[in-house]
Amino acid sequence: MFPENRPRRLRQTETIRRMVRETHVRVDDLIYPLFVKEADALKEPISSMPDQFRYSPDMLPKVAKHIASLGIPAVLLFGIPRKKDSVGTQAHHKDGVVQQAIRQIKDAAPELAVITDVCLCEYTDHGHCGILDEKGNVINDDTLEVLSNVALSHAKAGADIIAPSDMMDGRVGVIRDALDEGGFENTAILSYAVKYASAFYGPFREAAGSTPSFGNRKAYQMDPANVREALREASLDVEEGADMLMVKPAMPYLDVIRVIADEFDLPLAAYQVSGEYAMIKAASQMGWLDEDAAILESATSIKRAGADMIITYFAQRLAELLR
Ligand code: PBG
Repeated sequence: MFPENRPRRLRQTETIRRMVRETHVRVDDLIYPLFVKEADALKEPISSMPDQFRYSPDMLPKVAKHIASLGIPAVLLFGIPRKKDSVGTQAHHKDGVVQQAIRQIKDAAPELAVITDVCLCEYTDHGHCGILDEKGNVINDDTLEVLSNVALSHAKAGADIIAPSDMMDGRVGVIRDALDEGGFENTAILSYAVKYASAFYGPFREAAGSTPSFGNRKAYQMDPANVREALREASLDVEEGADMLMVKPAMPYLDVIRVIADEFDLPLAAYQVSGEYAMIKAASQMGWLDEDAAILESATSIKRAGADMIITYFAQRLAELLR
């Protein structure tokens, strides 16, 4: 006989597991990142990211309709221009690749929210996220002016949410001002508030052709060792008018997601980045992981840590699995 008040564990049949589950991943939580390349009729595989492609803008109506049909609420656009220069001119061109892409998507699937990444690294020939001085250091304030032009050009093309990812100081404030002055008071800002200088961006840089030609991004991205700094960064962005915050990458920074979720009451996105995607894909292709199970578990963990939204290259597969 066991003592009467022996602590008991809940018997977990599948039904009971469903009833007592604490965390739910919903299709509504997902944001799908898309690479758009200035070209025609292009669907180009990205070798380090199996099943992900670079599309030309004319291909997007079909892609956007499919994503919307899965119930995914939003896409996040990255542009790959034909021409790069030292100051990223193509980033704010009225008919630049992202501006064209926004119009194509909005025409084809108006219900799909379009988020645009605002950064210069894909548009500069040196691959850094801003304007450089002669020594090769990023000049913060000159960069801000270009970034606000980029943000405004995206809003004019129809973007719903602007996501500055450059990590310059003061960018959220100047972008908010530029949007308001341009009559885009309702265009939201999702700030990459907490962006670490991470090795997990490797495949993205191949996908977007944005590897710096010299040096690295440690001067303007965060040290993986720091978490109090994440709170400072997020506070600044909140003061400057961010509507939503982001932590990036996701899986190696679940503790940071938890801290930011507890500290701020703005909606929080976590970005499961290219390297996180590539790891799961590669191991699955080797037969070392159950891909679908790993996709679901990683998404669940990111939500459990406190994220409201997940930006993930697995969004389409997740939407199918969650159906
Ligand atoms: C910068 C940017 C990067 C990513 C998103 N925005 C690359 C970087 O900082 O080098 C990485 C996303 C990913 O790895 O999936 N425009």
